[in-house]
Amino acid sequence: MTLDEIKALVRTVPDFPKPGILFRDVTTLVGHGPGFSAAVDLMAERVKASGADVIAGVEARGFIFGAAIAARLDLGFVSIRKPGKLPVPVIAIDYALEYGTDTLEVDPEAVGEGHKVILVDDLLATGGTALAAIELLRRAGATVEHTLFAIDLPDLGGGDRLRSAGITVHALLDYP
Ligand code: PRP
Ligand code: ADE
Repeated sequence: MTLDEIKALVRTVPDFPKPGILFRDVTTLVGHGPGFSAAVDLMAERVKASGADVIAGVEARGFIFGAAIAARLDLGFVSIRKPGKLPVPVIAIDYALEYGTDTLEVDPEAVGEGHKVILVDDLLATGGTALAAIELLRRAGATVEHTLFAIDLPDLGGGDRLRSAGITVHALLDYP
């Protein structure tokens, strides 16, 4: 399957969740067995090349890609969760959204010193989520130098923000 064929499986929904937003919906890609498998294979190659030994992903859509790639490569997967979901003491970070703030949490026993982590998510927009997740993983003691997304929306500036912070950005598809 080519990248163009994979891209054609991503559904674009105008005006969701609010007017003016073109929502790039990966549920249609994930729902297509050969398409999802091809996307996971190509993303797994990028993880291998990064030298990372652990994959971390952010709830919820980051879990879909991150966990599938981790299983394909026999790597562990670290869950970065929205608040109040983990049943153990956590490390937490607050981060700014377009309106208001949100919080991400991780189990400090799941990741720490000696781990080379790549952060995987379905989509990079402003980069706020990825930067917060990276800071959280670093506070836990991990080394994080690489990120990998199924989709990059370069006009929203997330890639530039991450690269300015010294983070390498890999993306399967982009929508300039
Ligand atoms: C989406 C997406 C990324 C984030 C990207 O998640 O899955 O995690 O937004 O946006 P950013 O680069 O501007 O931070 P969302 O918060 O909508 O949660 P979901 O995965 O639970 O749908
Ligand atoms: N998350 C932030 N912006 C998005 C978009 N345009 N499509 C899908 N998910 C998003």
